[in-house]
Amino acid sequence: MALSVDLTHRRDEPEWLDRTDIDPKELESVLRDLARFNQAFLGHYPLLRWLGKAIRAAPKEAPLTIVDVGCGYGDLLRAIRRWSSQNGFDFNLVGIDLNPVTIRIARAATSAGDRIDFRAMDIFELNPTIQADFIVSSLLTHHLSDDEISEFLRLMEQVARQGWAVCDLQRSRLLYHFIGLSSRAARLHPMITHDGQISVARSLRRAEWTQRIAEAGLSSKDVEIRWFLFRFLIGRLRHAEQTPQIKQ
Ligand SMILES: C[S@@+](CC[C@H](N)C(=O)[O-])C[C@H]1O[C@@H](n2cnc3c(N)ncnc32)[C@H](O)[C@@H]1O
Repeated sequence: MALSVDLTHRRDEPEWLDRTDIDPKELESVLRDLARFNQAFLGHYPLLRWLGKAIRAAPKEAPLTIVDVGCGYGDLLRAIRRWSSQNGFDFNLVGIDLNPVTIRIARAATSAGDRIDFRAMDIFELNPTIQADFIVSSLLTHHLSDDEISEFLRLMEQVARQGWAVCDLQRSRLLYHFIGLSSRAARLHPMITHDGQISVARSLRRAEWTQRIAEAGLSSKDVEIRWFLFRFLIGRLRHAEQTPQIKQ
């Protein structure tokens, strides 16, 4: 194991998940294992907590529309549906992913009662097709170049009526090795280990998020950056007084 891995700069190495020629059965088992990984390491907690506070503060004349971009297996949206059922809210839930096979897999993993509208689409085609109150994404931004991340932030700012939040990994040597060890120990699909470590190496540090936010033309006052267990949540609500506080 190369303990001396160099994470000074974002790495530009493709992930297996970004390939277009993946066998659908194998893709399904990787997405299922990624959902297990998310669950075991509280991967959805920062976004669920942010959304919970944002939604409680939001006007609700009509059911809110929440869009998850790069939704993968759809596990975050199903968790949002469970939360909404338990808390007496009704939402329109939309999942978007670039890969049509992933979208088919997410549909098959979701019961009709969850009422999730899954669509195969590139995030950069969001506007003006999608009407959203909140846009969220998990483990998506490290797939994008620096310029694309700034563009994505600008896009969400244009499209999301009430706010948006992204959650992604922190580029950290400790996390890099932890993902390698824990995914092997949990016997997750080898691609989780491979992509997990590349994901860490492609992820941003806090100062880099600050730069992307500035490049997107957003004021640092309006966008919060929160750290939770080697992840950053970057969140923006339209009204500063509604900004939720997530403890570090
Ligand atoms: C690492 S997976 C994360 C899946 C899920 N959000 C999660 O937290 O487990 C990243 C997903 O983003 C999707 N993706 C990458 N680039 C995209 C783009 N430009 N537009 C939409 N989806 C994209 C990929 O197809 C993949 O399913």
